[in-house]
Amino acid sequence: MTSVSLSTSAAHALRADAVVVAVAKGPKGLVLAPGAETVDEAFDGKLADVLGALGATGAEGEAVKLPSPAGVKAGFVLAVGLGEAPADGDGYPGEALRRAAGTAARTLQGAKKAAFALPAAEAAEVEAVVLGALLGAYSFTACRGEADRAAAKAPLGEIAVVGTKRGDKAAKAAAERATVVGEEMNRTRDLVNLPPNDLFPKSFGDIVTAAGKEHGLKVEVLDEKALTKGGFGGIMGVGMGSSRPPRLVKVAYTHPRAKASLAFVGKGITYDSGGISLKPAGHNETMKCDMAGAAAVFAAVVAASRLGLQVNVTGWLALAENMPSGTATRPGDVLRMYGGKTVEVLNTDAEGRLVLADAIVRAGEEKPDAIIDVATLTGAMVMALGDRTFGIMSNEDDFRAKVHAAATAAGEQSWPMPLPAELRKGMDSPIADIANMGERMGGGLVAGLFLKEFVAEDITWAHIDIAGPAFHEAAPFGYIHKGGTGAGVRTLVQLAELAADGAL
Ligand code: BES
Ligand code: MN
Ligand code: ZN
Repeated sequence: MTSVSLSTSAAHALRADAVVVAVAKGPKGLVLAPGAETVDEAFDGKLADVLGALGATGAEGEAVKLPSPAGVKAGFVLAVGLGEAPADGDGYPGEALRRAAGTAARTLQGAKKAAFALPAAEAAEVEAVVLGALLGAYSFTACRGEADRAAAKAPLGEIAVVGTKRGDKAAKAAAERATVVGEEMNRTRDLVNLPPNDLFPKSFGDIVTAAGKEHGLKVEVLDEKALTKGGFGGIMGVGMGSSRPPRLVKVAYTHPRAKASLAFVGKGITYDSGGISLKPAGHNETMKCDMAGAAAVFAAVVAASRLGLQVNVTGWLALAENMPSGTATRPGDVLRMYGGKTVEVLNTDAEGRLVLADAIVRAGEEKPDAIIDVATLTGAMVMALGDRTFGIMSNEDDFRAKVHAAATAAGEQSWPMPLPAELRKGMDSPIADIANMGERMGGGLVAGLFLKEFVAEDITWAHIDIAGPAFHEAAPFGYIHKGGTGAGVRTLVQLAELAADGAL
C-alpha cells in the first residue's frame, strides 16, 4: 500500500524517483505554483520558461516530465497543471490541488517514491494534496498476474509531501485525515472493482467481519436462514434467484462519549443481471458496481472508527445477487417486507429499492438521529445528472440541504432532488400495498418515493443515488481511475464529523 509522509527537506534535496511541481495559467502565461521555488532555483529561475518551451500551459490534466538539473536529487521533474491561477492573495481551490496531485500520482504508477512540492502552506492544501495523491496512486492489481502486479501496474509506493514546517500540528492532522479518507475510498474502489465471481454476499460479509476485528467494530451477519426467519422479504426476494444467498450485515462503530447516532444503509447488489426482467446485453457488463453503496457505507464506518469520531455510526449492508433462475422472484410476485408492508414486484430489475426497504426499516428500529442510504439505484438519475454528480433526496428539506452542503465541503459533486407527492400514485398496486415500479418519467424520484414509504414518520432520512458517479467508464482524469471511484465515502465521513460536532 502507498505510504504518506510529511518531509521537512527542501524539494530539490529529497531523494526520490520524481519531484512533482505544479504550474498554472496566469494572466500573462504559465506560472509556477508555490512549492516549486527550490526546484526553480536549480533551473536558474528558468523552470517556467523551459516548461513553456516544452508546450506546457498550466491546464488541468497536463503532466510534463523533464530531466533533473544538477542540484535536484530526484530522478526527474514532473510538472502538473492546476488550471487557472487564482487572483492575487487567494489560494488554489482544493479540487484543483486534488486533481493535480492525482494526475501526478497516476502518471507515476510503478515508481517507488515521489516528492510532492505543491502548495502546502495551509493545512487544507496539505489535506488536498495528500488525498489527491493517495487516490491517484491507486491501482487495482488483485486480478493481475505476478509480473504486472510487481512492476508497471503497481501503485506509487511512497508519497512525501514537502513544504510543511517541522512540528506543524495542523498539517500533520490534515495529512492523517486525508490518509484515512483516501485509504477508505481506495478500500471502496477495491470492493467495487472485484469481479462478481469473487465478491458475493457471503464473501463480502466475511471481508466486513475481518475488517471489523481489525478496527474494533461490532459486526453481525444475518444469513439466508436468519433473514427468512426474521421476515426480510425484500432481501430474500431479490437474493433467492442466486445460488449464492443474500446477507444483511450490520457493522457498528460506537464512541463512549457519542452525542449523536447515524445509520448508513448501503445497496449491496454484488451483481445486477436484472433477474427475470433480465437486462439486455450492453447493460450488464458493469453491474458488479451495484454494491458501491454498501462498500461506501462500510468504508465510512471504518473511517469513523479510525478517526475516533465522537458519534455512533451503524452501517447496514443489504447484500444480494440479482439473478434469474427457477427459484427467482417473478414479475407478478408479492413480497412481504420486513415490518409487514407488501410489495408487488412488477420488474425484478428494480431490486435495489427492495433490499434497501428491509434495511431501512431495520435501521429505523434502533431510532438513530438520521438514516442516510447510499445506492446505485436508478439509470434515471444518471440521465438527469450525468456520471459525476449524485442526487440527494430527503423527507426533510433542511436535512437535504445539509447533506448537499456536506458533500460540497467534502469535494463531491451533488444536487438536491425533489420527492414530488404526485408520483406516488403510479406505484399503486391492485393487490399489494405498493408496487416496485411507477411512472417512467422521473424514475429516480419514483425510487426515492418508494424508499420513503419505509422510513418511519419521525425519522430524518436522506437518500443518495450514486448510480452515475460510483463507477467511471470514460478515460481516467485527476484522481479518478477507470472502475470504482469511492463515491459517497467523503460525504458520509463529513456527515459523521458534523454529527460528532453536534452540527448536523
Ligand atoms: N442497478 C440499476 C441502476 C443502475 C443503472 C446503476 C446504471 C448504475 C448504472 C438498478 O437496479 C436498475 O436496474 N434500475 C432500473 C429501475 C427500473 C427497472 C424501474 C433502471 O434504472 O432502469
Ligand atoms: Mn436493477
Ligand atoms: Zn441494481
